[in-house]
Amino acid sequence: MASGKRIMLVTGANTGIGYDTALFLARADSHNHVIVSARNEQRGLDALKKLQAMKLKGTLSFQKLDIASDESIFTAVKEIEAKFDKLDVLVNNAGIFVTGPTTRAAMRKTFEVNVYGPVILTDALAPLLKKSNDPRIINVSSGLGSIGARLDSTDAYYHNPGEAYRMSKAALNMASANQKYNYREKNFKIWSYCPGFVITDIGLGDSAQREDSRKKKREAGAESSETSAQGVLDIVEGKRDAEMDLFVQRYGKTWPW
Ligand SMILES: NC(=O)c1ccc[n+]([C@@H]2O[C@H](COP(=O)([O-])OP(=O)(O)OC[C@H]3O[C@@H](n4cnc5c(N)ncnc54)[C@H](OP(=O)(O)O)[C@@H]3O)[C@@H](O)[C@H]2O)c1
Repeated sequence: MASGKRIMLVTGANTGIGYDTALFLARADSHNHVIVSARNEQRGLDALKKLQAMKLKGTLSFQKLDIASDESIFTAVKEIEAKFDKLDVLVNNAGIFVTGPTTRAAMRKTFEVNVYGPVILTDALAPLLKKSNDPRIINVSSGLGSIGARLDSTDAYYHNPGEAYRMSKAALNMASANQKYNYREKNFKIWSYCPGFVITDIGLGDSAQREDSRKKKREAGAESSETSAQGVLDIVEGKRDAEMDLFVQRYGKTWPW
């Protein structure tokens, strides 16, 4: 790897917001190297191939990474260390929305991916982030995790379901605050970022009904996930540096914690 590159890891980059984020980061600057990570090797390699075919300014590579598995996390960190020896940007994007009642199993499954994964991955990557001159972590949260908005009956998403998901994103917001504390002496810049209500496959379940569900999302006002990727790029490019203690959204907006 040529020196002088800004090394950026995006989790869950094979589809949705993660894919668009990898695209926007790699397209933005020839100094950017984006590690497209995915839990499924084939899906990840397919995404990498698609991105590389666009002949973007930056470079890209693939990393297998399942954030629900410590073994996968520690193997990936070792491989990233061997290839790049540092990390400049970590986008903790991978996430799930488990539909149905708030059972123990649903909460466990949700927290495994939305909370435990990003926390363990970030701590495992901290030694590599410490080697960066400008380490940045973006935890992709959700307005549904805002406690302030949950208590506000005028909030547009007041009646939205997803208790386990809401709790997991509130916990992820606390993880951001913990990371700000843990890495305060190393100039880490850390954000909780809501990517907005956008059209992806999250929570859509059965692939047979996905097109119909996507259509319904569009009709309900969901925007393109490229708008979410633009929001990540803004943070990476330093446009939201004054808002590091806030829970940021796209378009320069914020949520209450
Ligand atoms: N879409 C929205 O409106 C919205 C709103 C607010 C917040 N968000 C957040 O945005 C993030 C991205 O969501 P999205 O809408 O782009 O959803 P998506 O299209 O379903 O993509 C989710 C990504 O996470 C990956 N993933 C799931 N479990 C994983 C694991 N154990 N290890 C590694 N990767 C895993 C998925 O991989 P597979 O393809 O292999 O399943 C996929 O790449 C999530 O954190 C979500 O909570 C989304």
